[in-house]
Amino acid sequence: MSKEKLIRKFDKQSKVYEIRRKQQSERKWRSALLRSAKGKVLEVAVGAGANFSFYPKDVEVIAVDFSSEMLSKAKASAAESGIRATFLQTDIEALSFPENSFDTIVSTLSFCGYDNPVQVLKSLSFLCKPGGQILLMEHGLSSNRWIGGTQKMMEPMFKRLVGCHLDRDIMDILQQSNVHVHRMERYIFNTIHLVWASPK
Ligand SMILES: C[S@@+](CC[C@H](N)C(=O)[O-])C[C@H]1O[C@@H](n2cnc3c(N)ncnc32)[C@H](O)[C@@H]1O
Repeated sequence: MSKEKLIRKFDKQSKVYEIRRKQQSERKWRSALLRSAKGKVLEVAVGAGANFSFYPKDVEVIAVDFSSEMLSKAKASAAESGIRATFLQTDIEALSFPENSFDTIVSTLSFCGYDNPVQVLKSLSFLCKPGGQILLMEHGLSSNRWIGGTQKMMEPMFKRLVGCHLDRDIMDILQQSNVHVHRMERYIFNTIHLVWASPK
């Protein structure tokens, strides 16, 4: 699917993401992960801004997404939560910040969307300061045979309808990237991964 088509798909879904943001879906996981955020934060694929209400109030967030509709909802969310944030509409697979720019990098539910998630994670690690942290909440392929098999079966339809991959192997992505994982929690038959990592 072309990037233009993908952006249109996410633009159209932005209202649903805003509703989910207001319902505070995934509250328990987002709150556990994001309370660790510090300093200058890069949040990639910010969507409708579901994370803003969970950040400590003293962070400064640079939020990126390629969907203008998602970004306008994310701006409202940051304002509601009183988080200092700036917004950038660009492709995360072509980010161009200098090395060691951020204290914290956040990605929630974004690795399903990229053509090359390993390359994205490597680039996020490059942008993170030494001693900084990379916080991830990603969904992916279950370690359970039956659930994993169903995810693989549904993958082409899901990609076409929603625009993201259902069967990303998050453990493999982490292993292939230049990050050191300090802590990981997995939920729902290991389909949801919370990760506290840093650049290697
Ligand atoms: C599944 S949503 C997740 C949104 C949010 N992070 C959350 O936790 O609810 C994926 C988001 O990634 C954005 N996205 C996907 N691929 C992207 C890319 N290559 N560059 C920029 N944004 C991208 C979409 O526009 C969408 O807002």
